[in-house]
Amino acid sequence: MAEGTMFHSVTYGKNLMGSYASQLNTLQRWEVIAYIKMKQGGTATTTTTTTVVADTTAAKAK
Ligand code: HEM
Repeated sequence: MAEGTMFHSVTYGKNLMGSYASQLNTLQRWEVIAYIKMKQGGTATTTTTTTVVADTTAAKAK
């Protein structure tokens, strides 16, 4: 499953699974997905790495 698809489902919920946006911030949601991908034996894509870095920067800017 694409990381973006997973992120969307965790952010907005999907059918029986509710949203986790109130419990995990944007960076944490990407981190959980990166962890799942790592356990699946894949490597994080450039897109995810870039997004996490961007989110970290955005969080520091606040
Ligand atoms: C932060 C932890 C979790 C992550 C990262 C996660 C991730 C996902 C993902 C990626 C899907 C597939 C959605 C899709 O098809 O687009 C999914 C489906 C689902 N998850 Fe989670 N999940 C989490 C926690 C939970 C928990 C705690 C529950 C139960 C209370 C749950 C119940 C479900 C169910 C029932 C589905 C199937 C939804 C359907 O009908 O398609 N999830 N989850």
